[in-house]
Order: sequence, then structure tokens, then C-alpha cells
Amino acid sequence: MSNVTITNHPLIEHKLSILRDVHTNPTVFRHLVNELGALLCYEATRDLPLCPVEVQTPLSMTTAYEMKESIALIPILRAGLGMVEGIWDLIPNAHVFHIGFYRNEKTLQPVEYYNKLPKDHPFNISFILDPMLATGGSAIATTNIVKKWGAQTIKFVGIIGAPEGIKALQEAHPDVDIHLAAIDDHLNDKGYIVPGLGDAGDRQFGTVF
Ligand code: PRP
Ligand code: URA
Repeated sequence: MSNVTITNHPLIEHKLSILRDVHTNPTVFRHLVNELGALLCYEATRDLPLCPVEVQTPLSMTTAYEMKESIALIPILRAGLGMVEGIWDLIPNAHVFHIGFYRNEKTLQPVEYYNKLPKDHPFNISFILDPMLATGGSAIATTNIVKKWGAQTIKFVGIIGAPEGIKALQEAHPDVDIHLAAIDDHLNDKGYIVPGLGDAGDRQFGTVF
């Protein structure tokens, strides 16, 4: 079964409390999603392999260590977009590929609307990004696509997960590690995470009135 890592560092807890607040405006909300993405990425990349490299400092030669892995960042549109920049700043060599899903409001099933992955998959690690893991449908469907593309090591990085979505993703893809800032209580009858933060896409892009 895949590992679930909850990174509950004080900085993350503090930012998450502002993110959850219904009065937080889209500008601040976007900023926080970006920062939380970077903080969670720090933990999600902890086990990346390093290669020794000889470096000349101003004082002497030394052995230092570099990340050589080629990394794909795969945000699930729309809400996953907000997690890209912060992570990309930390891993500037990463490549970004977008997958578009929206949830059918009645069935809660993910509906695919954007996928332009290239033919080849030359990456060692793929990070699927989406702040919300609710029923798990979008994450599972995206992982299906990314595996079919050729990815072998995949990690899901989100902000809030519902127990139902975590279980579903673990059962469907036991090899995909899950990184979150919090596990919330439950899903309501509309498939929203409670207490959650509402609709992460709408709150980032100001499309809730
Ligand atoms: C939200 C969220 C996830 C999905 C999670 O997207 O960003 O992609 O729901 O729910 P699930 O785990 O039940 O699939 P939404 O469909 O609202 O689209 P949006 O990001 O464009 O707002
Ligand atoms: N998608 C969201 O944006 N929020 C939820 O609570 C569930 C799905």
C-alpha cells in the first residue's frame, strides 16, 4: 500500500488556516496555494537520489551533491495550476504537462477535457499536483493517463485529502505515494471535503460569486 505523508509543519498549518478561511480573497488564496505547493514539495522530494559532483569552491575542491533526476510536474486543471510555480522555482529543470478534468456535479465522475502529453516519456519521476483529493476520481484518472504515458515513479502532491479519496487512490494505485498537508473529516453529499476550503478552482480564479 502506498505511503501517505502528512506534513504538518507550523508554517504549513498557519498557511492552511488562512487558506480554509471563507473570507480569504483569491489573490491571497493563490499565493498560499503556491507557497503550500513548495513546502509540500520539499517533503515529497526528500528521497530523490543524488549524484556526487566535484566542485571548486573559492578555497578548495570539494565533493557536493546534485539531483540528476528528470522530473515532470503534472497539474490537474484548473486547481492544480496554482501549485506549479512554487515547485518549479525549487526544481527549475522540471517540465510541466497539463491534464484537464472537471467533476460532473451529479455523478462526481471526472470528465477529461485536456490532454496533450507528448509521445515519449523520458522522466524519472512524475509529480501529479492537485490541492484537493476528494472522492479521488480525478487523481485516479490522471494517474491512469500518466502510467499509460510510461511513468513508473509517480507521487501525488495535494493540500487536503478526504479519507474516502485517500483510500480510493491507494486501492487503485498502491505504488503512488501521497503527500498532503491535512486529512479532513469526510465528504458531504455533494462530494465536498468537510471542513475543507470549498472549491479550490473557484477560490483561486475568483469564479465563485
Ligand atoms: C476539483 C479539484 C480536483 C477534484 C477533486 O476540481 O481541483 O481536481 O475536484 O475531486 P475528486 O477527488 O472527487 O475527483 P473541479 O472538478 O472542481 O475542477 P476545477 O479544478 O476546474 O475547479
Ligand atoms: N473539489 C474541490 O475543489 N473541493 C472539494 O472540497 C472537493 C472537490
